[in-house]
Amino acid sequence: MASSSSTKLVLCLCLLLAGLFTLSNKLVAGESDKVNLNLYYESLCPYCQNFIVNDLAKIFDSDLYTITNLTLVPFGNAHVLPNLTVACQHGEEECKLNALEACIIRTWPDPELHYWLIRCVENNTKDWKSCVKFSGHEKVFNDCYNGDLSEKLILGYAKQTLSLKPKHTYVPWVTLNDQPLYDKYHNLAAQVCKAYKGKASLPKLCTSSALSERKVSSKLQVSYADEDIN
Ligand SMILES: *[C@@H]1O[C@H](CO)[C@@H](O)[C@H](O)[C@H]1NC(C)=O
Ligand SMILES: *[C@@H]1O[C@H](CO)[C@@H](O)[C@H](O)[C@H]1NC(C)=O
Ligand SMILES: *[C@@H]1O[C@H](CO)[C@@H](O)[C@H](O)[C@H]1NC(C)=O
Repeated sequence: MASSSSTKLVLCLCLLLAGLFTLSNKLVAGESDKVNLNLYYESLCPYCQNFIVNDLAKIFDSDLYTITNLTLVPFGNAHVLPNLTVACQHGEEECKLNALEACIIRTWPDPELHYWLIRCVENNTKDWKSCVKFSGHEKVFNDCYNGDLSEKLILGYAKQTLSLKPKHTYVPWVTLNDQPLYDKYHNLAAQVCKAYKGKASLPKLCTSSALSERKVSSKLQVSYADEDIN
């Protein structure tokens, strides 16, 4: 008697758990199902700034972030010199801001957190200090920004950028699941929806009319790798 009712209880619990598991699977994209969205950029390229402030915001302002694994790679068209110092396309100020953003990513590894911080910096690079509200992370951040770690991180980002296949020819350079988007980066939301092959139901934005393809100007708005800005 006692054993049969406890068997029933166990069975009930199992069914309940299985039900919850299926439900949560339906609602939330499994981590490995997410679309890998990588942005290779440099902090002072105006088109990169525009992409971060306006285009990427559509992901994080909507439910699209639930199917997106964003990776920001702040290096862009910079060069690593033989003595391992870095020369940036828009000069020393850009190198400093790239390092700053590398440390923001390091200090707040969650893309949802560091995206909004970096967006704030990119929207007004002169006033980055007002973007970073430390809430207990000040030491981690300062140790990174003022120490050797930021240089190491930038050399890591250099390696990631320089090993891209196919090579990047301009920034912003956007890849979805390792495939470059080329000039389609302004239709980012639609491209992310299209690239998603996971089991969770599609985010609402993917089926909304707001997604209709946006006309882009015929001139590609990018900074080419071989452009000398300085
Ligand atoms: C998210 O992207 C990063 C960098 O590209 C990768 O290392 C990580 O495995 C990805 N996470 C998932 C869950 O795919
Ligand atoms: C590295 O090399 C560059 C170019 O040759 C030079 O301008 C710079 O001063 C060097 N930096 C260091 C730290 O040696
Ligand atoms: C961007 O910066 C300007 C000031 O330069 C500010 O007025 C505006 O609210 C900022 N926008 C966003 C989206 O942060």
